[in-house]
Amino acid sequence: MSQEIESVLAESRAFPPSDSFRAAARLGDGDEYARLHKQSIEDPSAFWGGVAKELPWLRPFDEVLTGPDGAQSRGPGVEWFRGGEINASHVCLDQHLDTERANKTALIWEGEPGDNRTFTYAELHTEVCRFANVLKARGIGKGDRVAIYMPMIPEAAMAMLACARIGAIHSVVFGGFSAASLQDRIADGDCCAVITADGGWRRGSVLPLKPAVDEAIKDQPRVKTVLCVKRTENAVAWDPARDVWLHEALEGVDAECAPEPMQSEDVLFLLYTSGSTGKPKGIVHSTAGYLVGAYLSTKYVFDLQEDDVYWCTADVGWITGHSYIVYGPLANGATMVMYEGAPNAPHEGRFWELCEKHGVTIFYTAPTAIRAFMKWGDEHVERHDLSKLRLLGTVGEPINPSAWMWYRDKVGGGRCPIVDTWWQTETGSIMLTPIPGVSATKPGSATLPFFGVDAVILDEEGREVPDGMGGLLALRRPWPSMLRGIWGDEKRFLETYWSKWPLTYFPGDGARKDAEGNFWILGRVDDVLNVSGHRLSTMEIESALVSHDAVVEAAVVARPDDLTGEAIVAFVIPQGEAGEAEAVAQALKDHVAQEIGKLARPAEIRVTTRLPKTRSGKIMRRLLRAIAAGEEITQDTTTLEDSTILDELRSGPKA
Ligand code: PRX
Repeated sequence: MSQEIESVLAESRAFPPSDSFRAAARLGDGDEYARLHKQSIEDPSAFWGGVAKELPWLRPFDEVLTGPDGAQSRGPGVEWFRGGEINASHVCLDQHLDTERANKTALIWEGEPGDNRTFTYAELHTEVCRFANVLKARGIGKGDRVAIYMPMIPEAAMAMLACARIGAIHSVVFGGFSAASLQDRIADGDCCAVITADGGWRRGSVLPLKPAVDEAIKDQPRVKTVLCVKRTENAVAWDPARDVWLHEALEGVDAECAPEPMQSEDVLFLLYTSGSTGKPKGIVHSTAGYLVGAYLSTKYVFDLQEDDVYWCTADVGWITGHSYIVYGPLANGATMVMYEGAPNAPHEGRFWELCEKHGVTIFYTAPTAIRAFMKWGDEHVERHDLSKLRLLGTVGEPINPSAWMWYRDKVGGGRCPIVDTWWQTETGSIMLTPIPGVSATKPGSATLPFFGVDAVILDEEGREVPDGMGGLLALRRPWPSMLRGIWGDEKRFLETYWSKWPLTYFPGDGARKDAEGNFWILGRVDDVLNVSGHRLSTMEIESALVSHDAVVEAAVVARPDDLTGEAIVAFVIPQGEAGEAEAVAQALKDHVAQEIGKLARPAEIRVTTRLPKTRSGKIMRRLLRAIAAGEEITQDTTTLEDSTILDELRSGPKA
């Protein structure tokens, strides 16, 4: 059977940057971009060496890329910036202190109840040094692992930077995860401390955090310290031998704390990502290479200028929060917005209210959020003045062209370029993306490889597939911010990412490249389905469904079928009232057949009000597959955001 994926969605709209955007952009000259890109591929040592020298080193590096084949090395075992010493909190904070940026606003924070705090670079530096001294006083030091389980409050970023300052390895666990998920991650990372809060605000109520920590560490004697931020004043249980209030520990603490010199390859952090099967993987990131990748991509992908107000709506519990809330923006001296709460609390225009209030110029969010905004209605966007916005971004999953167009027209007023950025927890920084002053953007395409990224579409045997044909995305060259391993599991690291083809990274996504070299991500390879021998991307069928006015969101899976091998089952969330399920289903089946072809016509449509998602908004298709096949769900559902969804899906109307 052919391993190629048939790509069936045709999208021909293209939007080049406006002349005014191009003229003011950091990189607006196509020739200059082409020259830099060529150098990044042909002479990576010269390119990345030049970029790395823009960062402040505590000791300069001797070599850029080393490994079994010197500067030509590829594969999993390479080293970046050997001989250098650097500290991430020094890069993010100290370097700005002798410049005009010392008194520039680094962080504008808003709590869900509407409370505000802002910090200049000098103030953030002081807070981080004091926080770091609190950690040191508890005996935490270089190489120790510290779990961070926090709401989206400034102390979350401070905690990460304080760990980095003393060389401790942080492991941020998203505050929406259960005690059991937290426990797994603390145990796997062998953490000696947890930084948390009493709770955080979420949709008007307190989401308690400390009780989950207590539960997670009851059998973990290695955890000697729980440092707790007082945020919501909810009552918490207290073990005086182990628990410390941050505000009490900070009293009288020294505001000086020298940054620990870290070797380039020393681990900066672990971040757990759930594979489609098996236990979560603790992705290991290095210090120098990671910072170089986060720094450069933030600067060029977001066209970051000195007076921008930048807002990435991710949570610090995800890689996007690490690279594009904390490390990338601060390394560039940016002013950024951070928001604690939900996008629909207390009302569905909250994000737009915040954009207007704080003068946001760059806005970076996820397709799942964009689809929710669409569902909530245009009036929430239209009520606010978004004229300061100049650039929009998306990340996390393929964006349907109809959602892309809505984002462009309604939020961006038709004038803001959209950077659709493809990357992963494992890649550390953005890999495929438009450069906003240069690239023509296309709805649904992450467009071109970023600097130093050698991306190709291969078949299972490692042969390049022709343009226009779907296949497996592959990265052939190493890049500075690539993962260095899976914590404690070298075998799984090599098997998962490096075993499909020699010395080539396998991200696990399907994609196709068009004749102009633009990449179109087709989703996880695990999500490909096979109808009568045709391998189709679930994402493209979902896009066709969503392009129908009656549908807000769709998830497509396969169930076994005697005749066709697999048959397509589509779960759809209708716009407004669903009406007669049977009539809707018939119309949608016809619509897909018309958009894509009879081949992709769903065998069954199920109307639902919600879809099972992970807490980061990814649809959990493995659960839908079990439901579609009428099987018992025996799989792990701990990463599911709302487990009541499963009953609704099982009993919902089918046609
Ligand atoms: O399938 C791709 C999808 O998200 C996966 C990575 O997920 P995670 O490690 O949680 O990181 C998300 C934030 C970087 C990828 O393998 N993905 C991410 N961005 C895009 C995307 N799919 C399509 N288009 C994107 N822009």
